[in-house]
Amino acid sequence: MSATQTYHISVMLKESIEYLNIIPNGIYVDATFGGGGHARAILNQLSDKGRLFAFDQDKDAQKNVFQDKRFTLIPHNFSYITQWLHYYGIEQVNGILADLGVSLHQFSAPERGFSYRYNAPLDMRMNQNQNITASDVVNNYSQQQLEKMFYEYADLKNAKKIAYHILQYRFDKKIETTFDLVNALQPVLPKTNDYPILSKIFQAIRIEVNKEIDNLKSFLNQTYTLLAPGGRLVILTYHSLEDKIVKHFMVHGHTDKELQPDPIYGKIVYPFRLLTKKAVLPTPEEISKNPQSRSAKLRCVEKI
Ligand SMILES: C[S@@+](CC[C@H](N)C(=O)[O-])C[C@H]1O[C@@H](n2cnc3c(N)ncnc32)[C@H](O)[C@@H]1O
Repeated sequence: MSATQTYHISVMLKESIEYLNIIPNGIYVDATFGGGGHARAILNQLSDKGRLFAFDQDKDAQKNVFQDKRFTLIPHNFSYITQWLHYYGIEQVNGILADLGVSLHQFSAPERGFSYRYNAPLDMRMNQNQNITASDVVNNYSQQQLEKMFYEYADLKNAKKIAYHILQYRFDKKIETTFDLVNALQPVLPKTNDYPILSKIFQAIRIEVNKEIDNLKSFLNQTYTLLAPGGRLVILTYHSLEDKIVKHFMVHGHTDKELQPDPIYGKIVYPFRLLTKKAVLPTPEEISKNPQSRSAKLRCVEKI
């Protein structure tokens, strides 16, 4: 295994690259560099004249950077994509890839606090310079705010009960570590197989800490203008809320608005050609080699 493979195992690598339909002299963006697996595969298809800009807000991802004159890593949030591309003199690109969520490295580095399997301070920040941590969310949010977060970001039917028990625990003691949180959640956990519910609770907190939904929407809403005609957008999501947002965007060209028929001719003008009518899923072989890929969904559109 190479160093970047231990950092992350790229999901649906072959499919992502095929859907990007890379033009060798083109300009591409990998919005989520991580271990650089997708980025390396894009570079492999580019000529000397091609360019690849990658984003990652986690400073740990910088250790995977390539020394390649065609490549630029922008260590910032992808919600600033337009600003940064303009800074580098780029108005339009031929393809944008985003492989959302966390890397294996973030998830399995105990000190990052993303996993309930290791005891560590409740952190969960992808961007280590950000102020707000998971501890701030869990200790300072009101019961209503916690309930809304668990309901909206993890579809937890017992969100109210979960929020209530966090508040009960917090009444006696601050929730400082991942194991403190697991202890606070004991009353709502099944006696056997607490994995699904704990994963969902931790996922909801992570989404909140990193403002993942706001960032995703802001990013998607910039991609239409950034893509050249014929340019491709490929997105990999890992939970239903993200996928719903991406699916809506790919039809309507906006995350929060709906396409309206032309007022004169009554015709709907679609911004994108949908290349994946249904989401593409990892093969059973990929899931057995890399269980982290099991919830992935790939969607792709081409700008008309
Ligand atoms: C699933 S990993 C990407 C793995 C990558 N495709 C590979 O092949 O190694 C997601 C990465 O995106 C980064 N990320 C997530 N949200 C981001 C955002 N809003 N801005 C910049 N980077 C982000 C995370 O820090 C993480 O490293």
